[in-house]
Amino acid sequence: MKSSGSEFAFICILFILLAIPAHASVTTAAQQPGQICQIRPLGYGHDDTDQVEEVIAKCGHSGTTIFEAGSFNITRKMTWNLQSATVHLNGFLNFPPTIERWLNPDNTYQVVFIQSQSSWFVVTGSDFVIDAHNTGGIQGNGQAWWSFFATRTREDGDGRPISLTLFKAKRGIIRNFRIESPPFWSNAVVESSDITYDGMVVNATNEDPLFEGQNIVWNTDGIDTYRSERITLKNWDVTCGDDCVAIKGNSSDIVLRNITCRGGEGIAIGSLGQYVNLTDNVQNVDMENIKMVRLDPKVQPNMDNGVYFKAWPGTVNGLPPTGGGGGAGTVRNLTAKNVQVDRVMNPVRIQIFQSIDPNGGGSPSKIKFEDMHFSNWVGTANNSRLLDLECSVSGCSDFVFQKFNVIPPSGESPHYVCQNVTGIKGLSSPCRISGGT
Ligand SMILES: *[C@@H]1O[C@H](CO)[C@@H](O)[C@H](O)[C@H]1NC(C)=O
Ligand SMILES: *[C@@H]1O[C@H](CO)[C@@H](O)[C@H](O)[C@H]1NC(C)=O
Ligand SMILES: *[C@@H]1O[C@H](CO)[C@@H](O)[C@H](O)[C@H]1NC(C)=O
Ligand SMILES: *[C@@H]1O[C@H](CO)[C@@H](O)[C@H](O)[C@H]1NC(C)=O
Ligand SMILES: *[C@@H]1O[C@H](CO)[C@@H](O)[C@H](O)[C@H]1NC(C)=O
Ligand SMILES: *[C@@H]1O[C@H](CO)[C@@H](O)[C@H](O)[C@H]1NC(C)=O
Ligand SMILES: *[C@@H]1O[C@H](CO)[C@@H](O)[C@H](O)[C@H]1NC(C)=O
Ligand SMILES: *[C@@H]1O[C@H](CO)[C@@H](O)[C@H](O)[C@H]1NC(C)=O
Repeated sequence: MKSSGSEFAFICILFILLAIPAHASVTTAAQQPGQICQIRPLGYGHDDTDQVEEVIAKCGHSGTTIFEAGSFNITRKMTWNLQSATVHLNGFLNFPPTIERWLNPDNTYQVVFIQSQSSWFVVTGSDFVIDAHNTGGIQGNGQAWWSFFATRTREDGDGRPISLTLFKAKRGIIRNFRIESPPFWSNAVVESSDITYDGMVVNATNEDPLFEGQNIVWNTDGIDTYRSERITLKNWDVTCGDDCVAIKGNSSDIVLRNITCRGGEGIAIGSLGQYVNLTDNVQNVDMENIKMVRLDPKVQPNMDNGVYFKAWPGTVNGLPPTGGGGGAGTVRNLTAKNVQVDRVMNPVRIQIFQSIDPNGGGSPSKIKFEDMHFSNWVGTANNSRLLDLECSVSGCSDFVFQKFNVIPPSGESPHYVCQNVTGIKGLSSPCRISGGT
């Protein structure tokens, strides 16, 4: 402990007689005797980072840590390595908007390989539960960031920090967690497996009247998954200005249940194929009970997609994090069932992203899409083109629609666009090569 005489607001109780309640089947070791630590905020003007690090060092291995309600001032990058541990986060980890400081890459972690993204808070380890009881989580103080970047170029890898990053984590549960005002992606799960997020509220809503009617909350994705297996997202409510969920390369066995997306871009698979030297595969994505809600356009003008796929073209054009392309990969076996959309622009879309190469002569994407199932879709689109599959040669096969009953704007009849798709079934009229917007 580097205590420079500072007060410690936590107490650690050596745990002898009581039995820790069985929190979850995954935390076998946490059910054995361990320590309990309790921590409360030091109060306004104080820095809680030291005491939070100390309490996790003490009780983060085979112990239980209880954060009391309130705001914990976290002024530096922080990692929690949790092994067979439970954390009750009744309050908020508050990351102050010292923007220039966070933008210095020395002050964040770069563990998310794709697009060289930065993180201010990383959770790693195995067999853990973080339960925020719907009363705690992360306060990202995003308004200052959004207003700052509203008049500056936003680029991937520019150092805006991800709020909660799970990195090399195994068998973890994040429960009833809130992420208020994320400056950038709310969540990322990378190089991880067997993670369940049950109960997640994300809210990125601009309240600066100067930007009313604009989307200044770009890149506030609900979550990005990358290089991860067996990830379950249940009971999510995401208000954002970008992808509600983005399933990126080498994500497999991904389950989504009961997800509400308010505004933004909808659910994305991708983007894929950005790195010419890496193959991006996505397999076994199972979504059920998904709802897109269009917001008041003064608050958030975009509600663009239901489920969409983003692939880079086959040509390399610049280098990641901002440029790229040329990577191969396959998206296979996806189901999107019981989906409700609300005036979305594109219910289902494959976008060969940046297919118009600014330097001319772009070649087709090397990403393939196979075995896709869309069933029980209801609601409305604000575009009569309900389906837009712009695939490269033999890039798309076996797209099956059942009860795909999205309603186009009144007076218009639905139409479907398919380029280079084989094995399309179940649409109410033929899929044409072009037409409509
Ligand atoms: C957070 O801690 C810093 C010192 O590191 C302090 O200057 C600042 O006022 C604190 N913020 C809050 C909201 O307490
Ligand atoms: C998100 O935050 C805004 C602004 O504070 C608020 O008006 C809105 O109700 C919140 N959304 C949800 C779903 O809680
Ligand atoms: C769906 O998730 C929301 C939180 O986003 C929760 O309030 C609601 O109870 C869940 N519904 C069901 C049927 O579990
Ligand atoms: C792929 O290329 C990126 C640079 O774009 C590099 O950082 C990475 O190490 C390369 N990976 C492999 C496996 O070669
Ligand atoms: C995905 O996994 C394959 C091996 O299965 C590997 O060759 C490829 O580089 C991985 N891609 C990424 C983005 O890690
Ligand atoms: C497709 O994915 C589902 C779960 O999402 C899985 O149960 C099924 O076995 C997969 N099918 C194949 C052929 O891999
Ligand atoms: C349709 O979407 C566009 C683009 O987001 C938006 O400008 C327009 O207001 C929407 N129309 C309706 C009727 O919601
Ligand atoms: C099919 O793919 C080729 C090659 O990418 C592309 O030129 C063409 O526009 C696509 N669409 C159709 C309808 O052929």
